[in-house]
Amino acid sequence: MKYRRFGRIGWQVSEVGYGMWGMAGWKDSDDAESARALQRAVDLGCNFFDTAWAYGDGQSERMLGDLVRANPSRRIYTATKVPPKNLRWPSRREFALDDCFPPEHIEKYVESSLKNAGLERFDLMQLHVWEDRWLDDDRWYRTLDRLRRRGWFQAIGISVNRWESWNGVKAVRSGWVDAVQVIYNIFDQSAEDELFPACREHDVAVIARVPFDEGSLIGNLTLESRWPEGDWRNTYFVPENLKATVEHVERLKAAIPPTMTLPETALRFILSHPAVSTVIPGMRKPRHVEMNIAASDAGPLPRALLEELRRHRWDRTPTEWSQ
Ligand SMILES: NC(=O)c1ccc[n+]([C@@H]2O[C@H](COP(=O)([O-])OP(=O)(O)OC[C@H]3O[C@@H](n4cnc5c(N)ncnc54)[C@H](OP(=O)(O)O)[C@@H]3O)[C@@H](O)[C@H]2O)c1
Repeated sequence: MKYRRFGRIGWQVSEVGYGMWGMAGWKDSDDAESARALQRAVDLGCNFFDTAWAYGDGQSERMLGDLVRANPSRRIYTATKVPPKNLRWPSRREFALDDCFPPEHIEKYVESSLKNAGLERFDLMQLHVWEDRWLDDDRWYRTLDRLRRRGWFQAIGISVNRWESWNGVKAVRSGWVDAVQVIYNIFDQSAEDELFPACREHDVAVIARVPFDEGSLIGNLTLESRWPEGDWRNTYFVPENLKATVEHVERLKAAIPPTMTLPETALRFILSHPAVSTVIPGMRKPRHVEMNIAASDAGPLPRALLEELRRHRWDRTPTEWSQ
């Protein structure tokens, strides 16, 4: 495992971090297997774990707390997120700060996350949706800064809405956020346009999320793919999205060298960008952990392949199902 500096905060975080949504929010999870996968990741050098209150109403935070307690000699960086008060993902332009992050709501949920995890502090506290417009009202920042001084976390971050990487550039430039979490993968390359240059200029850490486009960049989706009833993926891969996605993935497969797999290529594409501090694949199986951590050891992709993959950029606009 290789490590990278986490922006101006300066932590040395593993290039491959860990996304903890699926194990507490998707329907086909096996808690014992997820716990084994988490421990395998720690054993292989993964030290950055991303959770949120919203992942199973605290269940994923509890699993992270257990992992930290089971590994007292390891430095494990913990990141969680405050949910928006209206529980709507993503935020929309018309939502006011008071709809999503009024001061008392932020404080209540930071406290609740600490209790869920059974930890005295987190390393990174993120807002789970974001509107750059909220920079006009500094109450969210003053609240987080006050809680930070209390020792409840060290760094402040935002999580940018799907397919809206532009809607975080001003926050990065404001100097108030230490880290930004954004979707970045072979299809969604838009963060390269404005967000990454701003992060590099202001030394803000980048957490690249959803590296496999919620699973499509694994390469096994078909037009018949369905998930257990109540699983979020049924509402994302609606017929319209499933069809377009399968077509894009099939075209992409032709560009993957025979010596590489699509998931490995997907992760190494992300890690080839120097603005990225860590990539956080969702993983619930130890063998996925092993495969993904090996992508860090394999290093950046050759330039010619990177150029070919850039041609698979797929810009999409948020819709009612894109969440
Ligand atoms: N708004 C936000 O802030 C927000 C939104 C979405 C996600 N996130 C964060 O980003 C993380 C990652 O996104 P995600 O989990 O939604 O999607 P993702 O990482 O794009 O895809 C996860 C899927 O890929 C599978 N997978 C992982 N490695 C694999 C491998 N080597 N081979 C085959 N399959 C593999 C996983 O299977 P298994 O689970 O069965 O191992 C899971 O089904 C989340 O867990 C969460 O921490 C944040």
